[in-house]
Amino acid sequence: MQTDKKTLFSAAQPSGVPTLGNYLGAIKNWVMLQDEYNCIYSIADLHCLTVRREPKELRAKSLELLALYIACGVDPEKSCLFMQSHVPAHAELTWILNTLAYPGELGRMTQFKDKSKKHADNVNMGLMDYPVLMAADILLYGADVVPIGVDQKQHLELTRDLAIRFNNRYSETFVVPEPIIPGIGAKIMSLQDPERKMSKSDPNENSYVSLLDDEETVIRKFKRAVTDSDNSIRFSADKPGISNLITIYSAVTGENISCTEEKFAGKGYGEFKIAVGETVAAAIAPVRKKTLELLSDKAYLDEVMKNGADRAGYLANKTLSKVYRKVGLYSPERKK
Ligand code: TYM
Repeated sequence: MQTDKKTLFSAAQPSGVPTLGNYLGAIKNWVMLQDEYNCIYSIADLHCLTVRREPKELRAKSLELLALYIACGVDPEKSCLFMQSHVPAHAELTWILNTLAYPGELGRMTQFKDKSKKHADNVNMGLMDYPVLMAADILLYGADVVPIGVDQKQHLELTRDLAIRFNNRYSETFVVPEPIIPGIGAKIMSLQDPERKMSKSDPNENSYVSLLDDEETVIRKFKRAVTDSDNSIRFSADKPGISNLITIYSAVTGENISCTEEKFAGKGYGEFKIAVGETVAAAIAPVRKKTLELLSDKAYLDEVMKNGADRAGYLANKTLSKVYRKVGLYSPERKK
């Protein structure tokens, strides 16, 4: 790790194949920021356990997510890539931070409230504690910045609060991190219900584009995207479906919103949907190909994650020892 660079941390859950939302809101930025920062990217497998999962599937999805990170352009030679569960310090720091977190503030988190409704038969402590584990992820590495989509902003604010609370109580220890949220693409909406965010755990497959969808599927999903009946390609709060498609097109091409509006002025929705579908399909085709290639070389992926866990573990344990000392946990003197 280069010491003159600031540190960046981010993660995604292996809860399904990442969507176009995950890519445009987060992973695309991860790739772009690799030269500017010391980057650490984790696969948040412990977070995934807060919802019931098929164990075999969780294992497969975790490996697949690692392959996808690399296929999207995250370079294991530049950035540290690892599984959260391979570095026990994440769970250990969570315990310490739990002693500073209040049930009231955790119960107010939007994601907790949404997931409690969605999984009413399994509202477990982990679901409530989810943002504290996320705070531990970030604070262990002294991350200065955290690239995320809008939906994780509230969790980052809690992370900042916990860091400040700890620093005030036990003296300056944690870096208080800042979010990096993209100007376009920070909240990609569902293709079937543009009032809701695009999510990899949505039971309706037509609502999201997964990074492993083939060209035909991507185009079909865009053709079926829900839009209004006004037929004018204009970005506006009262046209959430078409505005979402304009956002997607702009985020993928790197053009701004008004450029996209101008380019398609006077064209019909049908034509625009096909253009968006083709543009997205072309952007993700290499990711799909590379992911499948990487998944056929499990030894390589295992090696990447082992190296990553060694590097991350070293950094995380340094922070954890400091924290244990500051809170007053006894450790025997080492013989010189
Ligand atoms: P996850 O797996 O839900 O999403 C990964 C990243 O993708 C962003 N994202 C979106 N961006 C735009 N539009 C969307 N529709 C969309 N859906 C998701 C998310 O904001 C996120 O940046 N709790 C996290 C994982 C995590 C983490 C962390 C993130 C664990 N520890 C520490 C940052 C730092 C999560 O479930 O992300």
